Amino acid sequence: MSEQPRKTILSGMRPTGRLHWGNYTGALANWVALQDEYTCHFMVADWHVLTTALDKTPEIRENTRQMYLDWLGAGLDPERSVLFTQSEIKEHAELALLLGMLVSMGRLERNPTFKEQIRDLNLSGEISYGHLGYPVLQAADIIIYRAHAVPVGEDQLPHLELTREMARRFNHHFSGARGKVFPEPEGLVTKFARFPGTDGKRMSKSLGNTIEISASPEDIHRKIKPAFTDPQRLKRTDPGDPEVCAVYTWYQKFLPDEVEETAAECRSAARGCVDCKKKLAEGVIEHFAPLRERRAVYEQDGARLDEIINDGCTRARAMARATMEAVHEAMGIG
Ligand code: TRP
Ligand code: SF4
Repeated sequence: MSEQPRKTILSGMRPTGRLHWGNYTGALANWVALQDEYTCHFMVADWHVLTTALDKTPEIRENTRQMYLDWLGAGLDPERSVLFTQSEIKEHAELALLLGMLVSMGRLERNPTFKEQIRDLNLSGEISYGHLGYPVLQAADIIIYRAHAVPVGEDQLPHLELTREMARRFNHHFSGARGKVFPEPEGLVTKFARFPGTDGKRMSKSLGNTIEISASPEDIHRKIKPAFTDPQRLKRTDPGDPEVCAVYTWYQKFLPDEVEETAAECRSAARGCVDCKKKLAEGVIEHFAPLRERRAVYEQDGARLDEIINDGCTRARAMARATMEAVHEAMGIG
């Protein structure tokens, strides 16, 4: 049977600490599934942390390691996918420098993600050249592997549009001996409903309302116990509304078989929140048990983990170098 060559995808995450349930349902679980269909490259975007959090440098190495452990635990498979660290592949920096010549300052300043960050972080006047250039580096990350598609959340679409523009401009200015150097990558948008944290607001590290995918059974119980439920349900005998309850959303994500019964028993007040949470905690502990076990194996075998990371970086570097050869040839420089 002849097979179509698989399409290539690349995605990345900034290493900012252990991944939580929101990161998992919004991105990582999707990446795991994509491995069946695509040739995948998954990158720890450690340089990208510097653009907004220069004070975090002492934590980046350890956070990178924790991220690899979460990835491997969740089922990213180093046999099938290339897992690598951005800062190990210096070619990204070279390509970012070159792409920087193909995009105007105005275009980068109009990037909505950038404008939002300036507003939220109160950075005006303190914006670094590297921060403005965040999407230029991201474009280099993507096109250096000639990725056809990029699984991202909707918030990253402006960056993908910029990536496509830079790829197009490069191809327009410098077509290589063998035609276009870069494909224009498509976004594989993961639409996800807002995922609630323990306080019912969006799960986010900065809000301190996260539960980590590597959390121990004790931690899971401890964090779920005070979690946000239907605020109108004051007494055990009051009927509840599952639709406004964070715990119910977690049922929907992690224990789909329990959803119907949970909703019915909540509405009729047959089930109390204390029991409902206990049941959820037990189910979630079981749901993540294989992840925790796999993670622990790599955690205990540091040499094996190093080997996996080195191997992924070696494979990524070879691809990036081959692309840069085509870039040099097309541009007649370097
Ligand atoms: N900007 C992405 C984020 O904040 C991380 C990232 C860096 C990325 N380089 C990438 C994502 C390349 C996709 C492709 O999550
Ligand atoms: Fe939420 Fe369950 Fe309480 Fe209903 S019974 S409000 S679903 S925790």
